Amino acid sequence: MKILITGSYGQLGNALTDILEKGASEIGSIPESYKHADVTAVDVDTLDITNFQAVHDFVMETFLPDIQGEDEPGIIINCAAMTNVDACETNFETAMKVNVIGPRNLAIAASSVGAKFVHVSTDYVFAGDADKPYCEWDTPNPATIYGKTKALSEKYVRESCAESFVVRTSWLYGYEGNNFVKTMIELGKEKDQIKVVSDQVGNPTHAYDLAHHIFKIAATEEYGIYHCTGEGICSWYDFAKEILRLSGSKCEVVPCTTEEFPRPAPRPAYSAMENLMLVSSVGNEMRGWQEALVSYFEHTK
Ligand SMILES: NC(=O)c1ccc[n+]([C@@H]2O[C@H](COP(=O)([O-])OP(=O)(O)OC[C@H]3O[C@@H](n4cnc5c(N)ncnc54)[C@H](OP(=O)(O)O)[C@@H]3O)[C@@H](O)[C@H]2O)c1
Repeated sequence: MKILITGSYGQLGNALTDILEKGASEIGSIPESYKHADVTAVDVDTLDITNFQAVHDFVMETFLPDIQGEDEPGIIINCAAMTNVDACETNFETAMKVNVIGPRNLAIAASSVGAKFVHVSTDYVFAGDADKPYCEWDTPNPATIYGKTKALSEKYVRESCAESFVVRTSWLYGYEGNNFVKTMIELGKEKDQIKVVSDQVGNPTHAYDLAHHIFKIAATEEYGIYHCTGEGICSWYDFAKEILRLSGSKCEVVPCTTEEFPRPAPRPAYSAMENLMLVSSVGNEMRGWQEALVSYFEHTK
């Protein structure tokens, strides 16, 4: 089976390629069908997903020679994105190209070679003003440019490739790349006290747990939208406190409000999601956020 991973230098891309090499994630083995997969992992230096022709040619070269006689369809997993939420507010055109046109290009190319397509999306497609976790059939209503581009990408992907999966996640942290966990660990070394917002809640998600489920979902033909987040809801303040506790830092974490930390892109107050489609398809093995965080620290020792 051929697998193409785009945006592979990022947090999720690294988790996916590492799990494919090992044949297992921290929560268990991935399906047998991946064991001898022929993996091509690329990032913008090799394949800029915004270039329609380049995507078309690359996908043709990667998949076509092997299509005849292959019993497993190939899989394209798109991890490439413009993930800087604030930068998206002032760089609308780039955000559109990377977050919308790129996934559309990949979805069209996947469809033309008969490959399945996995696209990763976000809690930011929702307004973030709910009072219970969003499920897969809640209507997107994004409040930011990032959220708008990701919501549009979901639509284009679903329209351009019938054999596609849209997997929404949130508050992602992996071993490679920048994320909240690493930022807190560094601040905990430098400062005696930090303020962290306590009025925004969501689901921290370990990149390896997400990657594990992406492999399980992509092995099926149950196309559509999935939520895939760590179990349990917390605030950024709760999350920061647990990170600093596990890192052994003496730095004090003080709760504050969103108003005290105005950002270019408004942050969702309530962006928790429920993994309902996982439960009714491949099963929901996502770990509780505290358990996954403990595992993260154990693996970075
Ligand atoms: N991070 C989160 O908290 C979070 C939360 C919810 C959903 N998600 C979604 O999860 C997915 C993976 O996120 P992540 O945190 O792993 O992202 P990431 O670490 O920011 O990685 C994204 C990768 O895509 C690359 N890229 C950017 N523009 C590209 C282009 N035109 N062509 C090819 N590659 C390009 C980036 O390169 P450069 O670094 O050089 O730009 C980077 O290596 C994304 O779809 C994101 O929207 C993330």
